[in-house]
Amino acid sequence: MDTRQPLIAGNWKMYKTGPEAVETAKRLRDLASDVKTTDIMIAPTFTAIAQVADILKGSSIATGAQNLYWEKEGAYTGEISPSMLISAGCSYVIIGHSERRQFFGETDEKTQKKVDAAVKEGLKPILCVGESLEERESDKTFSVLDKQIEIGLKDLFSENLNNLVIAYEPIWAIGTGKTASKDQAQDVHRHLRSGIEKNFGKDFSKGIRILYGGSVKPDNISELMAMPDIDGALVGGASLDAETFSKIVHF
Ligand code: 13P
Repeated sequence: MDTRQPLIAGNWKMYKTGPEAVETAKRLRDLASDVKTTDIMIAPTFTAIAQVADILKGSSIATGAQNLYWEKEGAYTGEISPSMLISAGCSYVIIGHSERRQFFGETDEKTQKKVDAAVKEGLKPILCVGESLEERESDKTFSVLDKQIEIGLKDLFSENLNNLVIAYEPIWAIGTGKTASKDQAQDVHRHLRSGIEKNFGKDFSKGIRILYGGSVKPDNISELMAMPDIDGALVGGASLDAETFSKIVHF
């Protein structure tokens, strides 16, 4: 279990133009050059991916995307395929973020197609799941997450999912300054891992990385990372500044 290498991922959401992204990526590359035992990834906007990937080439920081479309190519105006992301320099892709579910009609069925397409093309998907405050307060957290995982990974087989990462992001903790407590997060992560064990077996569940996301900051990362089932973080706001994000990756 302890063989899971931590992953700290920065989701830059719809922030930073190309030149701004390049500047932050350069600074982060220099600040994090001593980090050897934690994987680091940043996911800029589509328009900055190629430039950022170029800056990070040869460093230990990977580049990711924030979304993709599952078809290989075709008349799908405005969409981006897995192979296009790979050729721009991506190795990871965030799928099913709550903002995509909330504002862009992303369903569990769509996340499943995206995860499937990502793994088939060789990208590492980070499947995001999470409950709203209302769902948490009405004791539906586990059932909501179970459904997101069950449908999101339906008909996918563990041998095809070696690179899969799960991110637990409680919606009420995103951008609000409210972090789930380390115990709240650990409870959910343990639940997710045991659900994955039921569906995909013990070996797979032991190896899969489950990240926590939602108001992760330099001052709460260490206590989260100390929990046995928390294998990293998906960081929004605090990843936009290289100095702040560097503190997080140096947890
Ligand atoms: P914040 O870190 O800004 O709360 O965002 C979390 C998130 O949504 C990362 O994907």
